[in-house]
Amino acid sequence: MKGVILAGGLGSRLSPCTKVTNKHLLPVYDKPMIYYPIMTLVNSGIKDILIVTGGNHAGDFLRLLGNGREFGLKDISYTYQEGEGGIADALKLAENFAEGEKIFVILGDNIVQDNVSKHVEDFINQPRGAKIFLKEVPDPERFGVAVIKDNKIVSIEEKPKNPKSNYAVCGLYMYDNEVFNIAKNMKPSDRGELEITDVNNEYIKRNEMTYSILKGWWTDAGTFQSLYRASCLVAKDAGEKDI
Ligand code: G1P
Repeated sequence: MKGVILAGGLGSRLSPCTKVTNKHLLPVYDKPMIYYPIMTLVNSGIKDILIVTGGNHAGDFLRLLGNGREFGLKDISYTYQEGEGGIADALKLAENFAEGEKIFVILGDNIVQDNVSKHVEDFINQPRGAKIFLKEVPDPERFGVAVIKDNKIVSIEEKPKNPKSNYAVCGLYMYDNEVFNIAKNMKPSDRGELEITDVNNEYIKRNEMTYSILKGWWTDAGTFQSLYRASCLVAKDAGEKDI
């Protein structure tokens, strides 16, 4: 299985910090944000990683990460998303890289405490379809929210005003190669983007979606509040006391 990190977008919720750099290069405690999803992939046994980025600061990823030696990788692949087509649009750029294999996609601003290698193994053994991660949160309206019946996800609602559960869909997704056909046939949402939630709902419709509940803490880091929280969580794990 190969890994894909989506690190594009304008990061407008973190303006003015994102005026002169990409969101995923901002610090989370003592490392640039992008280090965390890379470490999640590497620690789950994935050795082939593609970074999808965009905007004006794409060259900085190469300067920061180089060939990935720091992470024990032989090299890292990079590609560039033109425009702001959304997460599922960025995903399309990974098709050649995937070469028919399954992929583990992580949104570049998602940080997890848990080691997910067991779930990666489970998905490698899953004959087809997709697998997502859920986490109970106090503010589900900020996320994709899973509607669950009899322990099965029946649908996902993107940022609903009245969430039907407290289970957020984390920005970690495992897909078989069919994901590229699904993404190609999708239509943009009201905000003009191809939504990852629509991709996931298609797998649910096909009855090919499984899920796991993430252990440990999980956070995004795309707003000032969550970026601050991410730094505090990482700092605490590093043994920092005065925060
Ligand atoms: C995206 C997805 C959402 C998911 C979230 C996880 O939202 O659209 O379904 O729950 O990532 O971080 P975004 O934060 O990019 O708006």
